[in-house]
Amino acid sequence: MNTKIALQRLLSGLPQELKNECFLDKLEILLKAKEIKSSADLYNLIDEEYLNKVFSNPTKVSSKIETTLKPGNVLEIACGNGRLLSQLEKNPKFSGFFGIDNNQRIVSLIAKNTKAKIFLNKAENFNYGILPKIDNIIINNFFGMISILQSKKILLAIKKCLTPESIILIGEEKKLSANINEANQYLIKKYNFHFYFPFYKDFASDGYEYKKIKMDQLTYYLLQLHENPNN
Ligand SMILES: C[S@@+](CC[C@H](N)C(=O)[O-])C[C@H]1O[C@@H](n2cnc3c(N)ncnc32)[C@H](O)[C@@H]1O
Repeated sequence: MNTKIALQRLLSGLPQELKNECFLDKLEILLKAKEIKSSADLYNLIDEEYLNKVFSNPTKVSSKIETTLKPGNVLEIACGNGRLLSQLEKNPKFSGFFGIDNNQRIVSLIAKNTKAKIFLNKAENFNYGILPKIDNIIINNFFGMISILQSKKILLAIKKCLTPESIILIGEEKKLSANINEANQYLIKKYNFHFYFPFYKDFASDGYEYKKIKMDQLTYYLLQLHENPNN
């Protein structure tokens, strides 16, 4: 294993144009300088013309997500370019859309895709108390990209906009193949760079009831506030 091989394995899902030698060289330099710490830092290195492509594949599960959610408003945490929100906007079951993402460049793509009210902020630091009560929160392709501490902070902070009926959909839980896991561990050990973090799911300790659900063979979690949070 070396850095280039590890990067090639981890970036295998990205558009072909991105995975050129020049991009890999740039990443290697930044890793050595310890200037990038996690996959979230990679978005700022992607050329404008390719940035949208990172999000362009419509998620396999979006129609299943629509049926799983309750009527009412929707907040997507780490909403990316708003591809899910813009799809949900077409469904009259939903009214009132909010998104949070901390990346300025990505947020500028959102404006073209959705009418949702977007907040440019770190999800773990956002004051959810300024929002109305939210019926549905979606956290899609985000847990597993942030640390356990960040995940826990978010699950605590969102309580300010939840009611006992609100639901939170979190997924998908990725099972890393042995190849990907090996590459991920290599970069953690060598540069303390986390392409993937462990997927946080100790929801009960944060006061939530939850069930595991399968959507198109992908694993998601559906959470609600625990009726008695002291239990
Ligand atoms: C893999 S994308 C997922 C986008 C979207 N949820 C989807 O499924 O298409 C992850 C997103 O998380 C955002 N992000 C990373 N760290 C964040 C943080 N601490 N707070 C808010 N957003 C963050 C990135 O800017 C990026 O748009």
